[in-house]
Amino acid sequence: MKFPIFELERVQSLYENTVDINLTESGFHPFSLRELLTAEQLRMIEDTVLGYGQTNGSIAVRERIAALYPDLTTDNVLVTNGSSEANFVACHTLLEPGDEVVMMVPNYMQIWGIAEELGAKPIAFHLREERDWAPDLEELRSVVSGRTKMITVCNPSNPTGNILTQDEMREIVNIAESVGAWIHADEVYRGAELDGKEIPSFIGLSDRVTVSCGLSKAYALPGLRMGWLAGPTDTIATSWAFHDYTSITAGILSHTIAEIALAPENRPRILDRSRSMLRENLKTTMEWVDSYGDLLRFVPPKAGGMAFMHYDLEINSTEFAEWLRKEYSVFILAGDCYGMDNYFRIGIGAEKAQLVEGLERVRAAVHSRFGV
Ligand SMILES: Cc1ncc(COP(=O)(O)O)c(C=O)c1O
Repeated sequence: MKFPIFELERVQSLYENTVDINLTESGFHPFSLRELLTAEQLRMIEDTVLGYGQTNGSIAVRERIAALYPDLTTDNVLVTNGSSEANFVACHTLLEPGDEVVMMVPNYMQIWGIAEELGAKPIAFHLREERDWAPDLEELRSVVSGRTKMITVCNPSNPTGNILTQDEMREIVNIAESVGAWIHADEVYRGAELDGKEIPSFIGLSDRVTVSCGLSKAYALPGLRMGWLAGPTDTIATSWAFHDYTSITAGILSHTIAEIALAPENRPRILDRSRSMLRENLKTTMEWVDSYGDLLRFVPPKAGGMAFMHYDLEINSTEFAEWLRKEYSVFILAGDCYGMDNYFRIGIGAEKAQLVEGLERVRAAVHSRFGV
């Protein structure tokens, strides 16, 4: 079987725990159980019996998830180990060898690699920096055809933090419907909007829509490995059948905690914590960027936990990231991981002190080598 190394994940898992300051984190500083739960809930966790749960997710958790979307029931939801497993299961449910998958780029490159592993052909359509990372829908129109099985988007976007307008969403749906393609939307950053207004989901915009989401990003609970796939009942039933071959079920403790995190009385508080971290850290990041004048180019994100920047220095992005990691013990993600040299990504959902220290180390390094 042929599949490309998932460079973006591999490089992070190799080094994120070996540096003083990790600026590659794409989510928000995670909750501890003590910060998240009440004393009573913690006691409930102590009493949890560590059995298997229902393999498509407990009814209680699927009810909580279904309630986040218009007109969904528990039969429209499959609980997975992270949204990454939801992406994996969706692709294995919908794609066959020879299919074409049209993917928004830059993007979290998981689906690109899965498409190749499945013998499908990934094709790019671009977010355009010169249009503040809006999607190039003329390009999308020009690359779809009767061979397109799926158009896949990430909304809000990793790594740009762009949010699609409702007109753009409708147009993407129109384009997909014009060739009978599915839309698969990775919405794991939904809920982390800077202006506090939760964006609409693709669910409900067409019959052929699947959505992956989870608690790793906007909810700051990546260690739970709690994700989900939402879509039409029959597609979810097929996905469940495939999921029985992957990891059987998400963990029972994760179910218990997810049920609490997604409860209407807790969810707003959890999302507000992420949004206020983001607002505070974005201010700090923009001051840092501004101090470099034309050397750095940056469209501030509208959502999500990261900043994606272009730099004007004579150094390849992988070399830049490796040098900073080895010499200054600060870790940034090279634009090469997105196929975009001369860019880098930093996480801005970290604790503020970490971010400030990380940015200062980058500043010291750049000054020592480039004199700026
Ligand atoms: C856009 C996007 N989708 C999916 C994932 C996978 O996250 P998880 O499996 O933790 O939900 C990530 C992780 O960085 C991501 O950025």
